[in-house]
Amino acid sequence: MIASTREGRVGAPVAEWFMERARQHGGFDVELVDLKAVNLPMLSEPNHPRLKKQTQETTTAWSATVDALDAFVLVTPEYNFFSPPALVNALDHLYSEWSYKAAGFVSYGGSPAACARCR
Ligand SMILES: Cc1cc2nc3c(=O)[nH]c(=O)nc-3n(C[C@H](O)[C@H](O)[C@H](O)COP(=O)(O)O)c2cc1C
Repeated sequence: MIASTREGRVGAPVAEWFMERARQHGGFDVELVDLKAVNLPMLSEPNHPRLKKQTQETTTAWSATVDALDAFVLVTPEYNFFSPPALVNALDHLYSEWSYKAAGFVSYGGSPAACARCR
């Protein structure tokens, strides 16, 4: 799951790098989920996500996408020592869809080698 959505992001190549390794493992059907393409509005649902009373088509589609996963890996940068707002927004749109799934993180920031353009 690519968590960065900004212009000029390096999240996509980092995700491709990880997906290749996940494919080589052989135990997973690897699928890319790009939060830029998911394009959720800033949290606009009136109900708590655990109630699943979704009012926006974007939320229903997002719910179905995450429901279908057995495991997920968040490929995420660090912005101001925190998560990208698009990631927090995507997480907060749902509740039980995330539960009891294996979760992994590939995280990068300004100083590691992953970000050649930042040096
Ligand atoms: C708003 C903003 C805040 C950032 N804050 C941090 C930070 O706290 N720690 C860090 O290591 N890098 C920080 N960086 C550098 C980013 O991690 C780096 O630019 C990375 O490439 C961002 O990922 P992206 O290109 O996929 O958006 C920040 C960059 C931006 C744009």
